[in-house]
Amino acid sequence: QTVDIELEAIEKAGYDHFMLKEIFEQPKSIGDCLRGRLNAKEGHLHLGGINDYVNKISNADRILIVACGTSWHAGLVAEYIFEEYCRIPVEVEYASEFRYRNPIVGEKDVVIAISQSGETADTLAAIELAKSKGATILGVCNVVGASIPRTSHAGSYTHAGPEIGVASTKAFTAQISVLTMMALMLAHKKGSLTESEYRKLLVELEAVPDKVAKCLDLNAQIEIISEKFKDAANFLYLGRGYNFPVALEGALKLKEISYIHAEGYPAAEMKHGPIALIDENMPVVFIATKDSSYEKIVSNIQEVKARKGKVIAIVTEGDTDIAGMADYTVEVPAAHESLMPLISVIPLQLLSYHIAVMRGCNVDQPRNLAKSVTVE
Ligand code: G6P
Repeated sequence: QTVDIELEAIEKAGYDHFMLKEIFEQPKSIGDCLRGRLNAKEGHLHLGGINDYVNKISNADRILIVACGTSWHAGLVAEYIFEEYCRIPVEVEYASEFRYRNPIVGEKDVVIAISQSGETADTLAAIELAKSKGATILGVCNVVGASIPRTSHAGSYTHAGPEIGVASTKAFTAQISVLTMMALMLAHKKGSLTESEYRKLLVELEAVPDKVAKCLDLNAQIEIISEKFKDAANFLYLGRGYNFPVALEGALKLKEISYIHAEGYPAAEMKHGPIALIDENMPVVFIATKDSSYEKIVSNIQEVKARKGKVIAIVTEGDTDIAGMADYTVEVPAAHESLMPLISVIPLQLLSYHIAVMRGCNVDQPRNLAKSVTVE
C-alpha cells in the first residue's frame, strides 16, 4: 500500500492530480505529436502511418468520423478543418449511433476512428461494420498496439503519452494535432490549399505548443474565477465555428469532474432554447476569440448581459471590446482560427479542474465514469 502511494506520488511529478499534470504536459505532448512529422521551415509534413493511403483518401467521396466522448469532439473540430482545407465532405458520427442504424457506407468512403484508448467497444464495432462494407479505416489512437489501431488499415498515433485522469485533456489536443496534420497532408496532395496558405499553416501549427504554454500561465487567474463560480448549479458554454466543439468539450469537462450540470451549444442556437435559462444565476462561458464569427459572438454576449447572465469570456490577447461587456475575460494568444481549439480549450480544462477540486470531487476518478469503456 505504502509503495503504491509513493509510486503514485512519483508519477504525479509534484502535481496534486494526474489531470492537472496532464493539462500542464500539453506543450510537450503536442510537441511530441508534431515531432519528426512537421518541419515548417523546410515545408515538410509527413505522417508515415497514412502515407500509402494518401491517394485513396484524397479521392474519397467523403470522410466519416466515428468516435465517442471527448474523441467525438475532436472529430467535430476535424470536420471543420477537413472541409475547409481539403474540400472533402465530412460526417461525424457517435459510434454508438452509427453501428446500429444501417448506415450507407461504401468502398469510396474513408472512415477515421478516433480513440484515446483504442479499446472503446462502440468505436471498435463501428469500424468492423464500415470495414465489412469495404470502407478504408484510419485509426487515430493514443495507446500503441490497442485493438482499434490493430483493426484499422492505417492510421497515426497521437503520442501524447499515458493519460491517467479519466477526463481526457492531453489526448484531445493530440488528436486535433494529428487530424490537422492529416488534413494538411491531403490538402497539399489535392492542391486545395495554395502553397503559401499551406506553408503559413505549417508555421502556425508549429507555434501551437508555445502558445499552449502561455495559456498555462493563466492558471492563477482561472483559479480566482473558479472560486466565484464553484457553487453554480448550471453552466452554459457557447462558441461558434471552430470554437463550437470547444464549447461542447468545456461543458463535458465540467460535468464529468465537478458534477455541475453544463451544456455546450453553438452560440447562435442560444435563441432557440438556452436563452430561456439565462438569469443572474447563470454563468455563461463564451469562447469568443478573434475569428470570422467574432462580430456575431459579440452580439450573443450582449444578449446574455441584457438578461443579467454572468459572462466569462475567453478572448484573444489585447481584446478590450469584450472586456468592457463580460464579467471576466481570459486572454489567450492569437492563432489561425482553425488552430484555435488547441488553445482555447486549455483555460476550460483548468476551469473545470479548479471548480472540481474546490467542490471536493475526485478529479482523477469521477463517479460512474471509466477511462476506457470496453462494454456497451
Ligand atoms: C470514456 C472516457 C472519455 C473518453 C471516451 C472515449 O467516456 O471517460 O474521456 O473521451 O470514453 O474514449 P476513447 O478511448 O475511445 O477516446
